[in-house]
Amino acid sequence: MCGIVGYNGSEQAAPILLEGLSRLEYRGYDSAGLAVRNASTPIEIVKAKGRLRVLAEKTNDGEALHGTCGIGHTRWATHGEPSENNAHPHASDDRTVVGVHNGIIENYQELKEKLLRHDYVFYSDTDTEVALKLIHYYMGKYAGGPVDSIARAMTRIRGSYALAVMFAEYPDEIFVARKDSPMVIGVTDGACYIASDVPALLKYTRSVYYIGNQQIARLGKGTVSFFDIDREPVSVEQTEVKWDAEAAEKGGFEHFMIKEIHEQPKAVRDTLHSLIKEDHIDLSGTGLTDEDLRKYERIHIVACGSAYHVGLAGQYIIEDLARMPVRVELASEFRYRNPLLTDRDLVIVISQSGETADSLAALRLAKEKGIETLGIINVIGSSIAREADHVLYTLAGPEIAVATTKAYSAQLAAVYVLAVQAALIRGCIDEEKYKELLNEMEQLPAKMERVLEDKERIQWFAAKYSNARDMFFIGRGIDYAISMEGSLKMKEISYVHSEAYAAGELKHGTISLVENGTLVVGVCTQNHLFEKTRSNMVEVKSRGAYLMGLTNYGNYSIEDTADFTVYIPRTDAHFTTSLAVIPLQLLGYYLSVARGLNVDKPRNLAKSVTVE
Ligand code: M6R
Repeated sequence: MCGIVGYNGSEQAAPILLEGLSRLEYRGYDSAGLAVRNASTPIEIVKAKGRLRVLAEKTNDGEALHGTCGIGHTRWATHGEPSENNAHPHASDDRTVVGVHNGIIENYQELKEKLLRHDYVFYSDTDTEVALKLIHYYMGKYAGGPVDSIARAMTRIRGSYALAVMFAEYPDEIFVARKDSPMVIGVTDGACYIASDVPALLKYTRSVYYIGNQQIARLGKGTVSFFDIDREPVSVEQTEVKWDAEAAEKGGFEHFMIKEIHEQPKAVRDTLHSLIKEDHIDLSGTGLTDEDLRKYERIHIVACGSAYHVGLAGQYIIEDLARMPVRVELASEFRYRNPLLTDRDLVIVISQSGETADSLAALRLAKEKGIETLGIINVIGSSIAREADHVLYTLAGPEIAVATTKAYSAQLAAVYVLAVQAALIRGCIDEEKYKELLNEMEQLPAKMERVLEDKERIQWFAAKYSNARDMFFIGRGIDYAISMEGSLKMKEISYVHSEAYAAGELKHGTISLVENGTLVVGVCTQNHLFEKTRSNMVEVKSRGAYLMGLTNYGNYSIEDTADFTVYIPRTDAHFTTSLAVIPLQLLGYYLSVARGLNVDKPRNLAKSVTVE
């Protein structure tokens, strides 16, 4: 998704803006631009299609642009093709209003027609140009100043936006507004910074403000004030970011993804330790009580992408351990389905970023219907975290690679804790079993480290199969949920067509796609289903498939069937996802590297999908 940065201080702005944009590259983009000025100079705009280095070359690493106040943007095309013309910043024709935007303005056509009637002309295909010209229109019509004209525009705009705007007549200020799109503001002595995400600010400050929904901020050189949509001053709390700057660096690894794969034991350990205290689960930080866990009759898990796959695994785990019905649904479906919910239901929204547009909309729908909500969220202060009734923070730290790994693992750990606590409270397990499950969970990080030690074998296998065209991942029960995640990793970073199938379902159609050399990964971590899945593996092998088996140490009979096998340490059957997913992440990663692809920033993808 688009990335926004801004700087207002005493240093030259352009190099700081380029540095900030480089920290947001992981969000995905196709063009970039800067707008910079000094108090006495007009606003200068430079834009470039393609990677950030094209913009850096065009501006001599920012040195060619003079000014201590500026905004920058990386654009991920929604309205209009990727081009220099459509790149941000956009401006009114007299360049008195210049701005950048993240989000989608749904009624931009209607607003454009209104402006056309007032003799405005348009040079781009973007909704952003419409928004800025609307602000320009209100500046002229009511002459109430920037906060007033932005607020008036906000009342007309439908959709989501994070806006950063400079006004020619207000040389030492930047104005920011947001609705349903993230924006963070950092203030230091003498300077203000803005960014779509915290990693772009960490170099300068850890004291940040999360500007609220439908609020406006006015940034001077080291000062900030906030207003609501009625232009009334509001106070916003300053928050201390705990992540350190190093966590957002590659730290000697070739890519963020492989670094984050290695950080998984820590992410899981930290998340578990925040929820398990003195040998007991403590959910007090989330606001969920034992009474709540007893009261709920049904759980709905709503999420997108990998977070949805966590939900799929969670369904098996919670239903089996706590004997509660769980329904898992894609947020993009849930939000338009008029779901059947009762006041004894709990809606759990899982999201790394806490900003995914569909997940946020699903959360709001549940709240509108008066249903209690729990967010399992990684980014502190994000929209879902702020709006959910209860929040369980995963402690994975900043995740930069587009393909999620450590956040996924931390989300799983959070789900295990909820399942085990609900199981105890609802009388489905006794204290002895509870202790045993906690003990198994505690051992997961060390076992994950052991799985990582086997990475060279997977690297070798990936290099051998780097030309694979089609791949299938099959498994039953929890192994099916693991297969879904393995298959997504393969698609998103290696661009290999792959499908995940419930192993028993293959013969109902899909098996006709298996031919000589098709790579099939059979996931068999559930001992009670081992023989069943293995016989499905035999079926595809007899049709020419090349088989990779993934199972627990001890299940050596798989070697009679599989051509290549990866073993994981034994753990309780409910927790095997945490171990089995690692070889599949590594397979996706090494295959992508072997194919020479952009691992951390795969084509067409964005880290945080803040538009529908
Ligand atoms: O930030 P979220 O967890 O809400 O993001 C959800 C998905 O967009 C995300 O998991 C996506 O599928 C990942 N790129 C997968 O690696």
